[in-house]
Amino acid sequence: MEWTMAELSSFDTTEFRKTLATFVTGVTIITTCTESGERVGLTANSFNTVSLSPPLVLWSLAKTSRNIDAFSRAGHWAVHILAADQQDLSNRFAKSGHDKFAGVETDAGTGGVPLLRGCASRLQCRTSFRYDGGDHLILVGEVLDFDRSEHPPLVFHGGSYGLALKNLKLPPRDTDETSAEGPASFKEDFLDYLLPRAHYQIYSRIRAAHASHGLSDSEFFVLSSLVAQDGRTLSEIDAMFSVTGHCVTSDTVQSLAGRHLVHYTTPATDAMAARLTLTPEGRETTLRVMAAAKAIEAEIFAQLGYWESVCLKLLLRQVVAMTDIGLPAMWAAPA
Ligand SMILES: Cc1cc2nc3c(=O)[nH]c(=O)nc-3n(C[C@H](O)[C@H](O)[C@H](O)COP(=O)(O)O)c2cc1C
Repeated sequence: MEWTMAELSSFDTTEFRKTLATFVTGVTIITTCTESGERVGLTANSFNTVSLSPPLVLWSLAKTSRNIDAFSRAGHWAVHILAADQQDLSNRFAKSGHDKFAGVETDAGTGGVPLLRGCASRLQCRTSFRYDGGDHLILVGEVLDFDRSEHPPLVFHGGSYGLALKNLKLPPRDTDETSAEGPASFKEDFLDYLLPRAHYQIYSRIRAAHASHGLSDSEFFVLSSLVAQDGRTLSEIDAMFSVTGHCVTSDTVQSLAGRHLVHYTTPATDAMAARLTLTPEGRETTLRVMAAAKAIEAEIFAQLGYWESVCLKLLLRQVVAMTDIGLPAMWAAPA
């Protein structure tokens, strides 16, 4: 087909690219080897499925690619659908003019095609058709073999890498934000409602684990902060606990000492300067309660999904860092 310059020039290429980038894709690396046995490959997100029977897939290669000759001749190639933790590999194969395979372990696939490891899945293909596609060459391949792992896939959207989240249902677009009862976003959708509500619901289960060992919230806080770093002073622990709006007092410490869970040394002048250490019994009790809390977390994450849980933690860490008001680090060693 002939393209006229008038048709082409009416196009704003940058806007066209941005528009195409609203389409979310995975990321692949396509590899092959030349007749002389050189391993070649590149990052491509133009990959798509064509047919189930026969099993056909396609992708397109820029005619400016250094690999155009290799793929124009190749009888076989392999598509690697990248896993979410393979961004560096994607960047490496998206850069021209260096040995992309240096230090990368590969297996030998059909036709001697190098197969990368650690991917979400891999498809070994035999070239079925090649079509001209404007400034790209379209390659269609018949899938001869494939394998897949449990690794979640890498996503590409709007020129950036992303992660695929499942089971999320967005609220309808036209929510009335200003009903008589107040802005909808200030109710069920308000961040400082959602975070504490999730916290209290989870914590009510963790509290039951404390209680089964006869520990109050503040007592468990003291013990767990000592597991992270033994020998903290009461005032250091209190400074960390004050985030919750509660305080740790010398009564808390005496109660723990009375049950042989901690030792402490009180300087004559200042009870808050008391330095606390866990007894072996205190450490064992704390580790048991912590294990019970981790089991509750694991149960919630199993329900949410592994990848969603990783993302939730990443986002929460980001919120913690963004809203930092200089609170002492919970689990870091005291200065
Ligand atoms: C996420 C992503 C997707 C890409 N998709 C394609 C593609 O589908 N086809 C293509 O030819 N280049 C694509 N590229 C660009 C090539 O990977 C890049 O131009 C590479 O340097 C080509 O290497 P080569 O010249 O050694 O072949 C993509 C790059 C990235 C980062």
